[in-house]
Amino acid sequence: MINGKKIALYVTGGIAVYKAVDLLRELIKNGAEVRVAMTKGAAEFVTPLTFQILSKHTVYIDTFAEDDPSTVNHINLADWADYSIVAPLTANTLAKMAHGLADNFVTSALLAVTHPVFTVPAMNGNMYRNTVTQENIEKLSARGIGVMSPDTGFLAEGYSGEGRFPEKSRIIDELEAFIRDYSEKLPLRNKKIIVTAGGTKERIDPVRYITNDSSGKMGHALAVEAWKRGAEVVLISASQLATPDYITRVPVESAEEMLRTVTDEFDDADAVIMAAAVSDYTPATVEKQKMKKKDSLTLSFRKNPDILKSLGEKKKPDQLLIGFAAETEDLIRYAEKKLNDKNADLIIANDVGKKDRGFNVDENEVTMLSRKSEPVTISLRSKSDVSVEVIDWLVTNMN
Ligand SMILES: Cc1cc2nc3c(=O)[nH]c(=O)nc-3n(C[C@H](O)[C@H](O)[C@H](O)COP(=O)(O)O)c2cc1C
Repeated sequence: MINGKKIALYVTGGIAVYKAVDLLRELIKNGAEVRVAMTKGAAEFVTPLTFQILSKHTVYIDTFAEDDPSTVNHINLADWADYSIVAPLTANTLAKMAHGLADNFVTSALLAVTHPVFTVPAMNGNMYRNTVTQENIEKLSARGIGVMSPDTGFLAEGYSGEGRFPEKSRIIDELEAFIRDYSEKLPLRNKKIIVTAGGTKERIDPVRYITNDSSGKMGHALAVEAWKRGAEVVLISASQLATPDYITRVPVESAEEMLRTVTDEFDDADAVIMAAAVSDYTPATVEKQKMKKKDSLTLSFRKNPDILKSLGEKKKPDQLLIGFAAETEDLIRYAEKKLNDKNADLIIANDVGKKDRGFNVDENEVTMLSRKSEPVTISLRSKSDVSVEVIDWLVTNMN
């Protein structure tokens, strides 16, 4: 369950911080990539250097230590991780989480998290049994945050009680069970979603091709968001971007290859999101050897297959087909035509004529057109945030 996953480990200031070092090692041993944030209190117990060396990454402590002007570290960490673990969780940070405080790096990041959060409270037995601590635990549990019950045994105070940091093997077991339970409640569980991404490459000769400005960022963001909602995702990508291990990726190059791969996967798919920018034309002939320089060159092209149209003709009533309309003029008119001509369920229209959105940048503004409702415009935002809206539509319209 945690193999290949990105985990943010938040360490807060209790006597059990030294045990979090071992937990970090165990998470890494189980195949997770881990980044650590600590409260100033936690750093009183064990130096950040220990966590830095083991996680092979900077440890975040100070909300205002913003070295890189292009990012905000606490939001970045919240967005980066697939899961967050707070271990040990002090009574103090527990109370802050229960009430939505964001007064240090750890609490600010945790407030920005949208993925599952699992916590390991550890404290003095009387602190733990205090009514207000128990009320705070109930608040976290009611919000779907995992809260482990601590071990009972010898406490740092020199007497026995409830509140001990559990053995790392129990933490890993309960974390895995928590993730499994969480996954079973996800809305796209047992659904297969195909996402295509990137600009196809159409070969001229062995070393040259024509393509377009699509980076694949939109398609890759959609694939990750669909996975977060529990879908089995097949990403058919012509892009060079990296993908997380948990997403099945089929690399393709040309439109022909993309059509073959999508068609092979289509029969048992519940939805297809065609985010790839498929070249309309391909060179009529592909030279076997690198072409030699001449005074001029004329290439002739033939039409590529229309993948969206072909899927629209094949699709069964319970399969959803989503296409993109990348245009530089008359956006909505062309998108409406595409919706009808291709038998799509949703067309996402995006303006690729502007520098700050669309192709090859991190942000997009889109309008979603379907036959069921009025067009919905998603204002300029990150491609991950646009993906949330698109996958929300998919969840609402599936079945
Ligand atoms: C020696 C010592 C041990 C402590 N152990 C714990 C503990 O195990 N659990 C806890 O909730 N607080 C413990 N505290 C109190 C916290 O450090 C204190 O509440 C602090 O404000 C927590 O800050 P943080 O939540 O920002 O890390 C301990 C304090 C000291 C001095």
